[in-house]
Amino acid sequence: MKGNFYFSLLFKLSVVWAVFEPVVSEPCPIRGESRVQTNGQMCQRPCTSNADCPRRRKCLCDGLCGLSCVSQGRTCLWPLEIENAEVRLTTGAHSFGKVAEVTCKPGFKMLEGQEVTWIQCQGDRKWSRPLPVCKAEISQEISCSFPDVIENGFYRGSDFSQGKSIQYFCHPGYALEGFGENYCQEDGTWRFPPPSCHQVFCPPPAEIENGYLVAVQKPQYEVSEMVYYLCKKAFTLDGSNRVVCLANGTWSHKPTCRSRCKIPVKRSRFIYYDSKVWVQEVVDGVVQHLDTVSFYCRLSGADFTCSYTVQSQCFDGTLPLPDCYEEPTWLQYMLFPKRLVSEITPC
Ligand SMILES: *[C@@H]1O[C@H](CO)[C@@H](O)[C@H](O)[C@H]1NC(C)=O
Repeated sequence: MKGNFYFSLLFKLSVVWAVFEPVVSEPCPIRGESRVQTNGQMCQRPCTSNADCPRRRKCLCDGLCGLSCVSQGRTCLWPLEIENAEVRLTTGAHSFGKVAEVTCKPGFKMLEGQEVTWIQCQGDRKWSRPLPVCKAEISQEISCSFPDVIENGFYRGSDFSQGKSIQYFCHPGYALEGFGENYCQEDGTWRFPPPSCHQVFCPPPAEIENGYLVAVQKPQYEVSEMVYYLCKKAFTLDGSNRVVCLANGTWSHKPTCRSRCKIPVKRSRFIYYDSKVWVQEVVDGVVQHLDTVSFYCRLSGADFTCSYTVQSQCFDGTLPLPDCYEEPTWLQYMLFPKRLVSEITPC
């Protein structure tokens, strides 16, 4: 406050000086000591009248230093650069006693919130201190209006002040169209228009080969709706028979109807579901898709022969026989049943 008072006093004085060329008469602090520093100002020799000063110096009011012997011709630094401010000489001169007006650029303010102040050229050839500082304006708490409420969706976030963001979400079965995140801008408006949520549908589910679709015929299906598939007789469903419409409008999967496999051996036993059986003992002589069957193979040496098993899996109608498997002939089967590969000692 005191500083301001002085500045405004200085300014008024300086205007008076500028117009009339100084005549010292206004109150000016009187100082005793000869050379002191006041507020960073180097004071000149104190005086009470021009008679106290050397020639070419006059007894003038030098700001806080009070009446001092100053040289009116001495100048202060010019041009003067102050960050984020415009500096302008009020009288076009920058010599003792002259005043410069400092105006902060838009968006900047001085420490006490003012945008303009005046500095004066002192007897020590310095501009009066402290030099003003223009700081970026601390913006008022700018907030955006409450975010738009959207149908079939909602937003998350509770801070709507500038620079903050909120997120939009759609209810299950709805897809977001537009911007899922919105930002409160510096001018207090939202950056994007609110998004919308539109309902997601699945297209009619696909038909499958060798099977049936169990579903109500409709042009479109809602998310989470389910349809079922069945396979024709003699076919096995690969994958779950229940298919669901997903949130992105696609079906969870498409099951496949796989063929069963004919067991390709006649005259030896094999292992199927932990039982050693003849083909006649298996219904229709077929196994299901993905079922495994172990066939017997023979291992022969100079003085021994034994059997070992090799596993095979039914896949969509094909149950491959292992390379080592040899189908016994009809004669072997009829005459030497104990010597069939599946009946000899295991290795
Ligand atoms: C749909 O969603 C599922 C599961 O989230 C995903 O596996 C699939 O790739 C998506 N499909 C498309 C077309 O985005």
